[in-house]
Amino acid sequence: MTLFQHVKTQWITDLRSGQAVETLFRIVEINRRQKKDGSAFLALTLMDRTGKIDAKVWDQVEQTEKAIQPGEIYTVSGTVREYHGRPEIHIQRIQRAPDPAVSESRDFSENAAFDVDARFGALIAFVSERLKNPELIQLLEVFSLSHGEAFRRHYGAQKIHHARIGGLLEHTDSMVRLAAIVADHYKLDRDVMLMGALLHDLGKVGEFSTEPAVRATPEGGLLGHIVISLEMFNDLCRRVPGIPEDIRLHLQHLIVSHHGEREFGSPEVPKTREAMALHAIDLLDSKLAIFLEASQRAVSNQGFSDYIPAISRRIMIQNPPEGDD
Ligand SMILES: [Fe+2]
Ligand SMILES: [Fe+2]
Repeated sequence: MTLFQHVKTQWITDLRSGQAVETLFRIVEINRRQKKDGSAFLALTLMDRTGKIDAKVWDQVEQTEKAIQPGEIYTVSGTVREYHGRPEIHIQRIQRAPDPAVSESRDFSENAAFDVDARFGALIAFVSERLKNPELIQLLEVFSLSHGEAFRRHYGAQKIHHARIGGLLEHTDSMVRLAAIVADHYKLDRDVMLMGALLHDLGKVGEFSTEPAVRATPEGGLLGHIVISLEMFNDLCRRVPGIPEDIRLHLQHLIVSHHGEREFGSPEVPKTREAMALHAIDLLDSKLAIFLEASQRAVSNQGFSDYIPAISRRIMIQNPPEGDD
């Protein structure tokens, strides 16, 4: 066996059955499963900038499970095998790699499938054209200048849904467009719906880092993104004098109640129509992303997915929505 290498030498997109692998990957997901004889194995998802690949750990399962964490980068050695027509890696050794330089760490993040700068610009324009309140228009500008850079590249979540560069932007953009439709349909306060949708998950930029690895920050682990979003929102408000008190309080309420229930991390439940609507579209957008991503990841284009703990079910594999590439 060659010495473990700490440079990226092989890429997922080039891996073929039968090939030996020894290079760096980010672990995205770790699932413990059972073989037919009842003993355990680990099913991993590995990632680099060219895509994702499944991998299995058959031996020293307990020891390996304790030593690895999703989001971190490891040197993996093993062999590529074919399973249901797709390559996967059977891992022989796995070892924590030193944190890469930030420039290299982009090798381990899946790039957004869209131009993040263009999408962010379009999102800001969409909100700006619809806002009536002049102070909220200023708040939008301050948000864009202060947080736009980090916001447009950030992940939507560490692993469950939108866990990729531009994921937070994708989720927020979708939410803002839904918020505009729902606000018109139910004659809700459109300014509050638009800004609530835009800022509800802002705290995710402080909750976890994505480079060099996807991992919770101390603030993220101790406060969570709802509290961080509220703090960041309050900070933005301090920089825009004259935001009407009732609008500021209403937006604070939308942020803190967007998870809908106290057991899902919201310190308060939705108590206005706008807060209820924002929670409902947040649920809609995140759940549908889980469905979509599970179909995209599926080994075959029919049948059912693996069990998805976040939604407590297997889902039916479906074709991508019409018009999607
Ligand atoms: Fe959230
Ligand atoms: Fe959200």
